[in-house]
Amino acid sequence: MESTRGPQARPPQPTADAPAAEQGHAALPLPGGRFLAGRTALVTGAASGIGRSCAYALAAAGAHVHVVDRAADEAKAVAEETGGTVHAVDLADPEAVDALPAEIDIVVNNAGFQHIAPLHEFPPERFTAIQRVMVEAPFRILRRTLPHMYDRGWGRIVNISSVHGLRASPFKSAYVTAKHALEGLSKVTALEGALHGVTSNCLCPGYVRTPLVTEQIAAQSRAHGIPEAQVLDEVLLATSAVKRLVEPEEVAGAALWLCGPLSASVTGMSLPMDGGWTAR
Ligand SMILES: NC(=O)c1ccc[n+]([C@@H]2O[C@H](COP(=O)([O-])OP(=O)(O)OC[C@H]3O[C@@H](n4cnc5c(N)ncnc54)[C@H](O)[C@@H]3O)[C@@H](O)[C@H]2O)c1
Repeated sequence: MESTRGPQARPPQPTADAPAAEQGHAALPLPGGRFLAGRTALVTGAASGIGRSCAYALAAAGAHVHVVDRAADEAKAVAEETGGTVHAVDLADPEAVDALPAEIDIVVNNAGFQHIAPLHEFPPERFTAIQRVMVEAPFRILRRTLPHMYDRGWGRIVNISSVHGLRASPFKSAYVTAKHALEGLSKVTALEGALHGVTSNCLCPGYVRTPLVTEQIAAQSRAHGIPEAQVLDEVLLATSAVKRLVEPEEVAGAALWLCGPLSASVTGMSLPMDGGWTAR
């Protein structure tokens, strides 16, 4: 049967002897500039590290950013610098999470923390706290913000997972459990949101240069009595083919691409940014 959308619905097709730009492809909205003007974003854990870089990147692209973090002073500073709105909130508190704004177009579920201990010694209350902040808070934020995105027919969910959403490491039971759960939540969101113009994806970095990691390097250096450079090479980067930390701006760049005009078909995906760790 003939399409009722007509031939105009078909994107311009390149031919072998003419550059794409001369055939209409230049009309595609290339990312750059303030392509998120008029959009509202909510970034959790935006006072530091990856979340802060995401807040800056989204604001630079024109979004109004809600900066959510329990570190009140640092979050206030990020909100002031990005022209955003601060919410000094402990994401382990469900009532506080449910009081966050719901009229949001872009959610970056980023806040997280680590606790390292063997499973048989892992404190149950730390396990619960990690699931609360890294799984339940994202779920609560999504269930309240998706109706607004569905009404507008557009939304972007970026879940900052980890290589530990795809692979396990010993002594990180709560963190690995939480990141695998976030991967599942993201995929369900992708399936339910697709017909409403909402995409949901995970970014899965290896070790990123943030306080979360620099503190681990310093602690291991003290514990083993070896220089920090040796901890980095022989412990953290042992499985990474690229022998350097990921920079937070690299993760923010991927998040920005997922919110941009050329990634609407990318959903339910997990993007490793791990220097080749998961290629093994
Ligand atoms: N740094 C890495 O190597 C790395 C690698 C992969 C994934 N990640 C993930 O990236 C995310 C951000 O980590 P980061 O490295 O930027 O860490 P970070 O410590 O620099 O920042 C985390 C932020 O989350 C906030 N936060 C933590 N618990 C909170 C709570 N209960 N309520 C409100 N805010 C809270 C902290 O105050 C902090 O500002 C985390 O989910 C982490 O698991 C980090």
